[in-house]
Amino acid sequence: MSLKVNIGNLEFKNPIFVASGTFGFGKEYSQYVDLNKLGAIMVKGLTLNPKEGNPPPRIYETPSGILNSVGLQNPGVDGFLKDELPFLKKIDTKIIVNIAGETIEEFVTIAQKLDIDGVHALELNVSCPNVKEGGMAFGVNPNSIYEITKRVKGVTSKIVIVKLTPNVADIKIYAKAAEDGGADAVSLINTITGMAVDINSRRPIFKNIFAGLSGPAVKPIALKYVYEAKKAVSIPVIGMGGISSAEDAIEFMIVGATAVAIGTYNFINPTCTMDILEGIKKYMNENNVSDINQIINSINV
Ligand SMILES: Cc1cc2nc3c(=O)[nH]c(=O)nc-3n(C[C@H](O)[C@H](O)[C@H](O)COP(=O)(O)O)c2cc1C
Repeated sequence: MSLKVNIGNLEFKNPIFVASGTFGFGKEYSQYVDLNKLGAIMVKGLTLNPKEGNPPPRIYETPSGILNSVGLQNPGVDGFLKDELPFLKKIDTKIIVNIAGETIEEFVTIAQKLDIDGVHALELNVSCPNVKEGGMAFGVNPNSIYEITKRVKGVTSKIVIVKLTPNVADIKIYAKAAEDGGADAVSLINTITGMAVDINSRRPIFKNIFAGLSGPAVKPIALKYVYEAKKAVSIPVIGMGGISSAEDAIEFMIVGATAVAIGTYNFINPTCTMDILEGIKKYMNENNVSDINQIINSINV
């Protein structure tokens, strides 16, 4: 049975990734999960300089999901290179570094600094809803997506994945802009903007008023976006949003995802990635599927 998938010139041992921002830089999870068994680790988003993130509260539970307003807290690209990359380099999996410039120039500078051994791919976070400048302002403008992708592709030898926001009316335009800019793949979805209110003070729970919704609640929406994006582009699509079981992961692959990333569910069950991997193998066995690529984009409509 083969679980190998390819994106750009990279081969992944399996299609189970962990989503940026929900797995830190891997260290905390290494006591629960054999990190070598993951297809890839998508690390926490990096900015050029260290960032403290937003004031609390940062997380708010909703039925079947969470709202978060972390605001890209991270050690900055140099802090990552010094303190996190040496640990990640020892793991036998692909390392995808999520980057979030506040300007196009910053995306380019961060990408240049990461054009080194131990980093296999860059995921351009043009879609974070929780930062004031940059972030989603780029993600909802197809020209910005095109421009950032093209500029980053010009300075890196790594494969470039563009992470799309679902906070748009027609995802196809944005997926196509990334492909036209030279992206090797698109990943989606980032969180969906939402809101919560404290009824006693009648104030919004979050200082930024809006926050990003993720977890099982968003899965049907994510699935639709992945299906639509896949139809719009010929590059691979990495699917994410609310995946909590092997069945969920298989659904994403059937609608066209070459790989899937698990995010919020890692908080609920830190070993869920391994359960999902085992569940996929069981499904393949039961359905006489010898190569996982037979499942990808196999939807009958
Ligand atoms: C606490 C938290 C932090 C996140 N940080 C990032 C980030 O730094 N960069 C990014 O591209 N996405 C970030 N995301 C979005 C996730 O990677 C993922 O796209 C989204 O949560 C949907 O997947 P899920 O429902 O499985 O969590 C974050 C999500 C959460 C819940």
